[in-house]
Amino acid sequence: MGVKKIIITSCKGGVGKSTIAANLGLRLAQNGHKTLLVDCDFGIRSLDLILGAEDRVVFDIRDVAIRGVEFSRAVISDNRSPLLDFCAAPAGECQAIEPSLFRATINRVAEEHGYEYILLDTPGDEGDTFTMAASAAESALIISTMLPTSIRAAEKTGVAVAEAGITNQRLIINCFDFTTKPPPGQASVLEIVDKTYLQLIGIIPYDSRLPELQLKGGLIDELPGTNTAAAFANIAQRLTGRNIPLFTSFRGINRKNLMKHILSTRPV
Ligand SMILES: Nc1ncnc2c1ncn2[C@@H]1O[C@H](COP(=O)(O)OP(=O)(O)OP(=O)(O)O)[C@@H](O)[C@H]1O
Ligand SMILES: [Mg+2]
Repeated sequence: MGVKKIIITSCKGGVGKSTIAANLGLRLAQNGHKTLLVDCDFGIRSLDLILGAEDRVVFDIRDVAIRGVEFSRAVISDNRSPLLDFCAAPAGECQAIEPSLFRATINRVAEEHGYEYILLDTPGDEGDTFTMAASAAESALIISTMLPTSIRAAEKTGVAVAEAGITNQRLIINCFDFTTKPPPGQASVLEIVDKTYLQLIGIIPYDSRLPELQLKGGLIDELPGTNTAAAFANIAQRLTGRNIPLFTSFRGINRKNLMKHILSTRPV
């Protein structure tokens, strides 16, 4: 089976792209898939912080592609799983790598190191770095929260991703709060799918423990048995082609609230 190269993207900032890249990467690795995370957010890299690896970064992906630094000197092996590797973005503002060079670098690294999944974390815009990352990917995970601006951004991102030649697109809804009734006017899951024209691959709950964990470089493995952990496990399974229900292993769901969130909340 060939490597799967996936951009985790939205042209809106702060919707959870890096959080999802890191935690999904860990889950894929824990499922036995050799996975590489590449931070493509040049200028404001964050995956090193989220992974708790900021003190270990010496070289970055730009050094590998442009300065001829060996990938083995730039790659960081995650302490949680021997199958999870990470390559940082350059720290300061700098130009994107020319797309054909970036694509060739990613393909070379994939082949030489036998990765099954390469997750490319993109910045929250459609600039040169997005174009660079998209050039190396054949699929996209587009992230939206329940907020109208984020939903609109997901729709726009789907178009940008298609224009970059990636037709295999899936939607992840992040920060989904089904513990309470949906606030009046909030779009339902069905409406989000309808508006973005994207096929849904997963729903991740809002979980205040995630940002807390991130302060100390912690990931989802520290929240075993939670719905948030189940959400990442389900998305990892669905990515590998298993057709499991969206809310597999979720506990304590208020089905009535959930249905209100999924179906339209607006009066007809
Ligand atoms: N499901 C969630 N529940 C609670 N908080 C979350 C969730 N997902 C992400 N967050 C928090 O939201 C904030 C933004 O997340 P993150 O940095 O992953 O977004 P991003 O899309 O990568 O942002 P940027 O566009 O700046 O790169 C972080 O503090 C993160 O911990
Ligand atoms: Mg980010």
